[in-house]
Amino acid sequence: MRPVVWAQDRARLIDQTLLPTREVWVECTTPQEMARAIKSMQVRGAPAIGISAAYGMALAALQGAQLPADELKASLEEARQILAASRPTAVNLFWALEEMAKVWQRLDESAEIVPALVERALEIAREDEEMCRQIGAHGAQLVPAGSRILTHCNAGALATGDYGTALGVVRAAHAQGKVSLVWVDETRPFLQGARLTAWELLQEGIPARLICDNMAGHFMQRGQIDLAVVGADRITNKGDVANKIGTYTVATLCKAHQIPFYVAAPYSTIDTSLQDGSQIPIEERAAQELTVLNGQRLAPEGIEVANPAFDVTPSNLVTAIITERGVFYPPFDFSKVLGS
Ligand code: MRU
Repeated sequence: MRPVVWAQDRARLIDQTLLPTREVWVECTTPQEMARAIKSMQVRGAPAIGISAAYGMALAALQGAQLPADELKASLEEARQILAASRPTAVNLFWALEEMAKVWQRLDESAEIVPALVERALEIAREDEEMCRQIGAHGAQLVPAGSRILTHCNAGALATGDYGTALGVVRAAHAQGKVSLVWVDETRPFLQGARLTAWELLQEGIPARLICDNMAGHFMQRGQIDLAVVGADRITNKGDVANKIGTYTVATLCKAHQIPFYVAAPYSTIDTSLQDGSQIPIEERAAQELTVLNGQRLAPEGIEVANPAFDVTPSNLVTAIITERGVFYPPFDFSKVLGS
């Protein structure tokens, strides 16, 4: 299940705002359209946002293919700014834009720049899928037989090039016969758990049970959750983890119940330029995500609303971080492994 695909001169993506009730594919032919798709969360999840941003730059290159190189480069820079302004928290977006910039900055002719950007975007998508499979293989080793696993949000195929990070671990462990149940946090307010993770797991026949976010503590207290695994949008050098709002609550509950709390993410999610989680920009989204559901008002008009899309789990609550390069345990110091 690839949520974003390249089709010759356009990107096609499954509209994740409509899942699971409708499977609609939308097309983006300009970087502006791609930026809108990212902002509106038709495509979401840190690695999938990175891949989409790369495709957005490939679209900008095709748009400007007839321009002389200096004008093409100026229009690429403009497209980069537009895409960079779409969502602030997932570092994969900025990582992918930087990867694309490296390509056009080293080339001099428009005729070389355009195919090279398309090829690099395709490569970023292929690499992501491969990394997810490696993350799954490393993570599955941490899953004991018969595990009941809690996950929050959607860090599955829909959020990546394919296969998923947290759900990559689940998929690999399930293939080894070690998963007896996946507890799926609903993930208010955007319902990535209820809508997307539940959909993915059902499609694959992985045993799953949906709960509201505020039920996890209850099932941990009753000894019905063995471990938690989540994705990440940005991980600092010392291992503080920004992920979907509510992740910090899950990690705190895990600590209180002595349950392992694992984070699964590719290295492009690690931002070694930041030491501390308080430095991570947290996206604030529209009040309507809380006050309106399917066109139905839930809260009175005029109520003040806070809607941060992410929170930060401090590294002292993280049991291990699973990457394609292996499993890392605290104390974390990623610049030593990855370079800064
Ligand atoms: O707001 P979203 O749906 O883009 O948030 C997604 C998450 O928080 C995921 O857990 C994270 O991006 C990792 S996806 C492999």
